[in-house]
Amino acid sequence: MTPPVATTALDPAATAEALALYSDPETCPSDSLAPVPLAEERAFVAWQQDIPRQYLALSGDELDRRIRAARAALGARLVVLGHHYQRDEVIQYADFTGDSFKLAQHAANAKDAEFVLFCGVHFMAESADILTRPDVRVILPNMAAGCSMADMADPEDVYEAWDTIQDVLAGSAKVVPLTYMNSAASLKAFVGERDGLVCTSSNAPKTFEYAFARGEKILFFPDQHLGRNTGWQMGIPLDEMVLWNWRRPMGGLTPDDIRRARVILWQGHCSTHQRFTVAQVEKARAEIPGLRVIVHPECRWEVVQAADDSGSTERIIKVVSESGPGSTWAVGTEINLVNRLARANPGKRVFCLDPVVCPCSTMYRIHPAYLAWTLEELVAGRVVNEVRVDSETRKWALVALERMLALR
Ligand code: 13P
Repeated sequence: MTPPVATTALDPAATAEALALYSDPETCPSDSLAPVPLAEERAFVAWQQDIPRQYLALSGDELDRRIRAARAALGARLVVLGHHYQRDEVIQYADFTGDSFKLAQHAANAKDAEFVLFCGVHFMAESADILTRPDVRVILPNMAAGCSMADMADPEDVYEAWDTIQDVLAGSAKVVPLTYMNSAASLKAFVGERDGLVCTSSNAPKTFEYAFARGEKILFFPDQHLGRNTGWQMGIPLDEMVLWNWRRPMGGLTPDDIRRARVILWQGHCSTHQRFTVAQVEKARAEIPGLRVIVHPECRWEVVQAADDSGSTERIIKVVSESGPGSTWAVGTEINLVNRLARANPGKRVFCLDPVVCPCSTMYRIHPAYLAWTLEELVAGRVVNEVRVDSETRKWALVALERMLALR
């Protein structure tokens, strides 16, 4: 980590002005999000459309009343999981909140439930389906809630890359495939069948250790940044981590690049985290004395280096919550989490490192109207928006997920 820029000679009025700018609700509409009827959500056109029309015009209060009534009717038959990036008007209904790792553990532990409703994105619901008993029905309230990073690793492209790498190495080195949780179930199965495993941002170094105990090289997908940041943390120089560009023949690499590399990183990224820059870190440090910066490891390597700390969403919450009164934090992750963290820590200053960063557009697709609809259907004895992984995929994907869950 680079040391903070010296900021002692700053004018307090300038600092206050800078803080006001970073906390300005005008810069990002999510600062003032209130539940509006689904029909009034500007992005609704891109969301799941086959929700019955009667849900479109319901007010926030009416939706709240109906969601609570449906939950009460379902009782212990239902577990609601909520990722930290969910908006307040959705996460309030979660029985358990967490980062992807913690939510995977909750899914694996949901032994008595009949239904798991996942307020998150598609790959999380798929993982929950793999980890729960086959008769547990997992529901994703809005089927359009995907993950653009996960989509950057098309399984066919990964299989082709794998074959090419094997051909180049011709048995001279063993490659262990490692997939980030943010990936299709079929890719989890692919790594499970090849001695590999799944990782999340909270356990990536342990999964690298697991992989290097079994092979000489790692193929890591889909997030290049988490892969690079983890490799660096494990002492691997940047020039021993090469980037596989899935749009180009042989990933845009030479056979020699592949033979030399210890980590082959898939060229995928998170559009929300890739917006954070070193310039933002430097500017915030220069304007605000005593500032500390914490970012998610899906941020670029340079940004993680410029920050004071990095970690999963759960770790970000823990570090900021446990910091001393009066601390000031610039946080490099999704805005709903940052705003909630700011409200939960009134004696501290917590704001988003990028004043104009907005919600993860796919996490944001879980609107209370979808919750009301899917829950009321369950009460009526019908399951809609079920996420189901076929049994063949499930078999090996479960192996890959269980290897991760077993790491200590
Ligand atoms: P966490 O596991 O840190 O919650 O991250 C999940 C994610 O999808 C971040 O973009």
